[in-house]
Amino acid sequence: MSAEKFSSWSYTEALPLEDEVLVRARERAHELGVTAVSPGTAALITSIAASSGARNAVEVGTGAGISTLALLRGLPQDAILTTIDVDIEHLGAARETLADAGFRANRTRIITGKAQDVLNRLTDNAYDLVLIDADKANVLTYVEHACRLLRTGGTLLLNDALDADRVPQPAIRQASTTATRQAVRFVRDRDDFVTSTVPTGTGVLIGAKRG
Ligand SMILES: C[S@@+](CC[C@H](N)C(=O)[O-])C[C@H]1O[C@@H](n2cnc3c(N)ncnc32)[C@H](O)[C@@H]1O
Repeated sequence: MSAEKFSSWSYTEALPLEDEVLVRARERAHELGVTAVSPGTAALITSIAASSGARNAVEVGTGAGISTLALLRGLPQDAILTTIDVDIEHLGAARETLADAGFRANRTRIITGKAQDVLNRLTDNAYDLVLIDADKANVLTYVEHACRLLRTGGTLLLNDALDADRVPQPAIRQASTTATRQAVRFVRDRDDFVTSTVPTGTGVLIGAKRG
């Protein structure tokens, strides 16, 4: 990457104004060792959630709630967000984040469990937006579920779509990188999706499901 390109990326990451609620949420994430979405990615998620008008959304990988908050800040007030994480401590931190931001508990359906088990129980064609940010080795499975869960017109967001800049390097074949490459190509190659991958944060795949 040229110095100018890196400078442009850094500029876009520094541009969003994060409030005290987000600062405290990032401190919780740091204490728990959870990698949260970057400021640029949080802003992108909020913008896409706001333009989507989604009423039903799913998040895989709640963490300490930074991306959850980003979603809720963009979604309409009557939207319900189902968010899934396997770690009780992370979900406790996320609950604190959402309460701190003033979101009522009935805006979110927080589910403790392995994503694969929980996603299996969710209904086809019933969701307008799915964000995936967990368990990279199994990301292809989560993306396959997302394609099934989304309604026509719905949006798929896959965070860390460049797997910390490893995806573009063909020599790197570790499990998370290989799985992420497969997941991105899987959606790209589907006739019922149009996709774009943007380099914000550690990369975000945006997929729109069409009829
Ligand atoms: C990268 S963090 C999510 C960060 C969060 N999206 C944010 O921006 O604040 C990944 C999360 O996935 C959770 N996780 C890992 N494996 C999982 C699985 N099999 N099912 C559900 N959640 C899982 C971890 O507990 C962790 O909280």
